[in-house]
Amino acid sequence: MNAETGMRKPMNVIVTDTPDQAFRRAADMIADEIRSVPAPVLGLATGRTMESIYRLLVQQYESGGLDFSGATSFNLDEYAGLPPTDLNSYSHYMREHLFAHVNMSSTKARVPDGVAVDLDAECARYEVAIHASGGIGLQLLGIGETGHIGFNEPPSAFDSRTRVVHLDEVTRRQNSGMFGNEPARVPERALTMGVGTILEARHLLLVAVGEGKAEIINKALNGPVSEAVSASAIRLHANVTVILDKASAHIWAQNRG
Ligand code: F6R
Repeated sequence: MNAETGMRKPMNVIVTDTPDQAFRRAADMIADEIRSVPAPVLGLATGRTMESIYRLLVQQYESGGLDFSGATSFNLDEYAGLPPTDLNSYSHYMREHLFAHVNMSSTKARVPDGVAVDLDAECARYEVAIHASGGIGLQLLGIGETGHIGFNEPPSAFDSRTRVVHLDEVTRRQNSGMFGNEPARVPERALTMGVGTILEARHLLLVAVGEGKAEIINKALNGPVSEAVSASAIRLHANVTVILDKASAHIWAQNRG
């Protein structure tokens, strides 16, 4: 928002023909941040959308084009009750898809601790650690069927901070693939950065692909900016890039003003 005019800066929305092109644009943007910032602080996400992006970053590292040694990262979320050794934990996901394959220091790759004795204290510690790092430069985001970013299920206050949340039934179904397609096995609670925490990053990069995301992308980008759709909060941020493929963009493209 421009304080003087009250006008929002238009979002930079990139629409690609294929999902692969969307993943490449996103990976290149993250790689640029890593190359151009001396000690980059990245906000990272998990989920199916991110897998291809991390694969491309690993390829860039392996070909000698990317050095993660100066980078710090903070993941958006973790399931409550799952230790890092659990194959379904986001900590394990990050090792499998990124951390184990690049030269990033394990002490600088942070994921909330889902089995901390005091989960609220862990959330508070996470906020302090983000702040102490100098704040997140580039925050990678996916979007869930409920419109969540991180695990900020609706309604989530736009000034919410890292906290323990209850997962929506829709999200537990969406994420049940890793849990033998049994939504009941998906943990009921998670730790997530808040919407307010996310909005403090200097640049937000939201990536979505596929027809399954078309409705919620339209709601988030064309509908009211409302706590009923957490992702709509990104429109309050001055520096946002949204990367979509044609399939996820088409309803938004038809309806945009
Ligand atoms: C997970 C996260 C979530 C996912 C979203 C989309 O860390 O932040 O908001 O980005 O649920 O997940 P996929 O990519 O699996 O559709």
